[in-house]
Amino acid sequence: MTEMDRGPNDRDELVALTRQLRSQLARHVAAGTWAAPGQATTRSAILPFDAEVGTPVEVYDDRAPRIGRMSLAQIRDELGECTRCKLSTTRTSIVFGIGDPNAPLMFVGEAPGEQEDKRGEPFVGPAGELLDKMIEAMGWSRRSVYIANTTKCRPPGNRNPELDELEQCMPFLQAQIASIAPRIIVALGRPASNQLLGRDVPISALRNKFHDVNGIRVMPTFHPAYLLREPDRKRDAWADLKLVMQELARLGIAPPGTPRG
Ligand code: URA
Repeated sequence: MTEMDRGPNDRDELVALTRQLRSQLARHVAAGTWAAPGQATTRSAILPFDAEVGTPVEVYDDRAPRIGRMSLAQIRDELGECTRCKLSTTRTSIVFGIGDPNAPLMFVGEAPGEQEDKRGEPFVGPAGELLDKMIEAMGWSRRSVYIANTTKCRPPGNRNPELDELEQCMPFLQAQIASIAPRIIVALGRPASNQLLGRDVPISALRNKFHDVNGIRVMPTFHPAYLLREPDRKRDAWADLKLVMQELARLGIAPPGTPRG
């Protein structure tokens, strides 16, 4: 049967599959985790999961050596003065991430805004002030958790990051997650949640429950910028964060500075 003989559904399916395979391959090549038969991978980034399809990714095949996780400093070096996507032409700073490199609790937002771009640090604008309050209400602090975004450069005019930008940047977030190995990730807002879970659904379909992604519990919740516009939803966001606090307690992880006993 030739391509021409196939029905429209077969063709659509083939196109979708090819696109998916291409995008997965591009991601692995970007992260240095793809090995041609007989070759070893050149980098040690352990991608905990595939951002697009949300399924566990076998990064190391039988032929590739397992050489351990990269440190955050190594990942930052690898990123360099990144020009992998068009955001590099408009950004002021690369906003890598901030916090404890061994934090059991991580927060992931979408992309830096104007203030973050100026200061090179995630969540330092008005949404960041609210995020700090949320983290502190949980008994933690900006220093004792780790905060990052799905893209490290500000999209012009604060538009959503585009697919090609996410494809270039997500491997670095994934490498950071693998390095930090948090027990819980709080995903802030629909875009970050969908990126981390490989879904494309409203936040209401994801929040208020844990999603297990290769042993890391992901709790999607509302983005603080949304909560600034819709303060009535703060109650719901707090319910999500309380589940995170309960789960941390169940895992025997207390906020820093909590007296033992
Ligand atoms: N919004 C985000 O998603 N991330 C930031 O760093 C700032 C605002």
